[in-house]
Parts: sequence; C-alpha cells; structure tokens
Amino acid sequence: MDALARLWRSTVGRKALVAASGLFLWVWVVLHVAGNLTLFSGPAAADGYAAALRATPAALWAVRAGLAAAAIVHVAGVVSLARAGRAARPRHHAHAARRASTMAARTMRVGGALLLAFVVYHLLHLTAGLFHPGFLPGHVYDNVVGGLRPPWVAAIYIAAGVLLGLHLFHGLWAAARSLGVWPEGAARQRRPAVALVSAAVALGFASVPLAVLAGWLR
Ligand code: HEM
Repeated sequence: MDALARLWRSTVGRKALVAASGLFLWVWVVLHVAGNLTLFSGPAAADGYAAALRATPAALWAVRAGLAAAAIVHVAGVVSLARAGRAARPRHHAHAARRASTMAARTMRVGGALLLAFVVYHLLHLTAGLFHPGFLPGHVYDNVVGGLRPPWVAAIYIAAGVLLGLHLFHGLWAAARSLGVWPEGAARQRRPAVALVSAAVALGFASVPLAVLAGWLR
C-alpha cells in the first residue's frame, strides 16, 4: 500500500499505474468476450458457463473487487495526469499544446467516459435487470437475447464494442510505450498485431447484438 502511494505521487509512477490497471482490464475484457461466445453454443452452454462462474462466490467477488479497483485507479490516474498536464502548461501555450495533443488522445478521454457510462448502463441492464421487462435471474441466454432484441439497444451494444476496440488499440499502444516495454522501432512493427487483436475483441462483442438483430440468436 505504501509502495502504491509512493508510485501515485510521481507522474511517471501514475503513468505506470494507469498502464498496469489498463492491462489488467484488457485481459479481463478478452476473457469476457470469450465467455460471450458461449452464447453461440445455445442456452445450456451459456447458462452453464455463467453458473460455473458463480459456483465459487469468493473467487467471483475477488475478481469483481480487482476489476473495480483497476477501474478506479485507471480513471483517477487519467484525470489526475490530465490536470497535472494542464497546470504545467504555460497559459499562452495552451492553444498550441491542445492542437498538439493528438486526435487519438482526445478520443481516448471522450471514448473512455462513454465506455464508463456504457458499463453502468450494462450492469443495470443485464446484471440487475433494470430496463429489461423479461429479465429472469440466472437465465443469461434469454436475458441477453431478449434484452438486445430492440434495435436501439443492439445499436448501443455494437457501438460499445467498436468504441472498446478503438480504446484497446490506442491504450495497449500507449501502455507499452509509457512502460517502455517496446523500443520505438519494435513498437511500430507490432502495431498491426495490436490492431488485429483489438479488432477481434470489437468484432467478438459486436457479434452478439448483430446475431440477435439477424435472428441467428433467438
Ligand atoms: C456487446 C456485447 C456484450 C454482451 C452480450 C455482454 C454480456 C454480459 C453478461 C451476460 C454479463 C453477466 C450478467 C450477469 O449475469 O450478471 C456481463 C457482465 C459484465 N460485462 Fe458485459 N457484455 C457485453 C459487452 C461488455 C463490454 C463492452 C464491457 C466493458 C467495457 C462489459 C463489461 C461487463 C462487466 C464489468 C460485467 C460485470 C462482471 C461481473 O458481474 O463480475 N461488457 N456482460
């Protein structure tokens, strides 16, 4: 805890914490998308998978606590780094600096805030069953397929998948650079591989609402 607090106090340390928490969330997202694909094997497989996850409540709550902690560190770190960056910039440089701040970095902030809003909506929708007339606890397959049937809800889930893919793409790239994992040349070479994995995650998430819209999942 002490080491964490010391890391948080320096800009470099906060960057490392944002990157490390982001990587943790990255791994979890890949597991989530893989779990979602059980929906394509039918209700028994999807409900069985969800029941297996709930079979060990201690492990489930440990992962949930880790997720919540990683999300808090990630968001608080980004906000605090952005504030520190603004405060360090002389006033008359503000405009030029804003222009220099890449399109991608700004998209990351707006996209990240939208993703956070989506996660809140998503938990209320598919975990708590709010705004979901036919919700039945434990019936994950029916809850997902029934919940995503209105085209505007499917559209929200497709948009979230695409937004998440873009966020992962730029995030993994930025994390590897801020942690100094890859030298500049190697980072450029690995860009297509990072793009491919991020696109696969986006497609994996979007495939469920798309399949519901197409009537393949019903
Ligand atoms: C687009 C298709 C998606 C589908 C079909 C889907 C489906 C689900 C389902 C069925 C659950 C479990 C609900 C329950 O039984 O309690 C769940 C939980 C969750 N999902 Fe998604 N999800 C999708 C996208 C996303 C995205 C893009 C994110 C994050 C950016 C996300 C984050 C979460 C979180 C944080 C939980 C709670 C995990 C827990 O309870 O431990 N999901 N999702």
